[in-house]
Amino acid sequence: MIRLLFTLLIEAASAMSLINGVGKLPTLGWNSWNAFECSITESQVLSAAQNLIDLGLKDAGYTYVNIDDCWNDRSRDPTTHRLQPDLGKFPDGIKGIASRVHNMGLKMGIYSSAGKTTCKKLPASLGYELIDAETWAEWQIDYLKLDDCGVPREWKDDCLACVPDSRKTHYVYMNGTCKNLAGNWCPSDYDFRRSKTYQRYKAMRDAILAQSRPMIYSICNKGKGGIPGWGNEIGHSWRSTEDIDPEWSRILEIINQNSFYMNHVNFYGRPDADMLEIGNGDLTLAESRSHFAFWAAMKSPLLIGTDLSQLSQEHIRILKNDVLLAFNQDDVYEGPAMPFKWDWTFSPTNPAEFWSGQFQRGILILLLNVEFAPRNMSVNWEEVPQLGDGSYWVTDGWTGESLGCLSDGIAVEVETHDTRILLVGNRCWSSEGRYRPMWWK
Ligand SMILES: *[C@@H]1O[C@H](CO)[C@@H](O)[C@H](O)[C@H]1NC(C)=O
Ligand SMILES: *[C@@H]1O[C@H](CO)[C@@H](O)[C@H](O)[C@H]1NC(C)=O
Repeated sequence: MIRLLFTLLIEAASAMSLINGVGKLPTLGWNSWNAFECSITESQVLSAAQNLIDLGLKDAGYTYVNIDDCWNDRSRDPTTHRLQPDLGKFPDGIKGIASRVHNMGLKMGIYSSAGKTTCKKLPASLGYELIDAETWAEWQIDYLKLDDCGVPREWKDDCLACVPDSRKTHYVYMNGTCKNLAGNWCPSDYDFRRSKTYQRYKAMRDAILAQSRPMIYSICNKGKGGIPGWGNEIGHSWRSTEDIDPEWSRILEIINQNSFYMNHVNFYGRPDADMLEIGNGDLTLAESRSHFAFWAAMKSPLLIGTDLSQLSQEHIRILKNDVLLAFNQDDVYEGPAMPFKWDWTFSPTNPAEFWSGQFQRGILILLLNVEFAPRNMSVNWEEVPQLGDGSYWVTDGWTGESLGCLSDGIAVEVETHDTRILLVGNRCWSSEGRYRPMWWK
């Protein structure tokens, strides 16, 4: 039934109309916010760029160096009305740092808001879209994240949201229509393309398209304004939830919520599950593996959000996992991994645990254990939509170890909050391998 629903919804996931030659695949890189928030400086950004190179992350594909909020001055230039860099923090200006980042073989991202001010109350882009897009193009910017702060009353929508989740602060847009569960949510037939939110984000899309420099356009309005219905038309990615925190409970909530948007994953347009928290807070290694595996498998942008100089070897290995990166960056297979063995239920604490998807290397299977104890999980190949009865070569997606030719399926022990990744390759003859699901530690 889930597959039928997804098929019906493919039509709703309309093709991206912001084709400007960039953003076919999810963006890989680094963003300053989670680690440095408002204290970001030019030297920290340049160190992050150098660390991407030195740690081999650039070679693994992480090429965007994105400055978040707090880069600009308290006022626009009185004559040109342009945003101006805070020269105390960025003495060479943004054009200067962009040139240095480009000389390192990397790309430069910038930040603003589709409001009068940014979240930290600095001047932002509402009403100045063309001036700002021109400025960034001249500064050789490659990527824009546009937040949703500082929206004045006359630009607010009467109705913003669909189904509230358990926290009542996050919103879900299910089954392609907006479900009206409580009085103050939008009517179920509400057309979000008539909303002011749509107009605010479209204005910047048009301003970017008017520049000769292509820029990736990352919409950050946190799942509101019916964004799943129009995000792919307007931007290359759109944040689907409220902000992430470096906490396991929050990672699970986002996996749950974002899992309902998988039918919107396309080349050139996709839901964004927010920046990575690997290296932050007290996520265990198992939790960090699950966080990375799901962000990659859901084809979210992968923006590392930590102080790279403090990253452990184990964290770096997670971020460089070649199977997950290859899945996320596959330029032939557009779709994400999708849940199987799962009823259509919305649960912030128990998201779907069995997922599979296809990419050029084979079939990726993810097994997530949300319970607070290790647990055996099993899959029969017949249950996996992309597989059938028979035997397949299987590789452990974390260690690269070959698990051999496995008939029928597999049963594995999964550590608490961990995710096992199986790379299922060609069919094989069962006589070459095992006949029964194996118990695999
Ligand atoms: C989604 O559609 C299915 C099938 O029509 C239905 O059972 C389910 O309740 C719907 N979910 C929501 C949130 O509307
Ligand atoms: C998984 O199954 C194996 C084989 O039956 C058993 O030895 C092991 O204790 C089980 N693990 C868990 C966590 O239940």
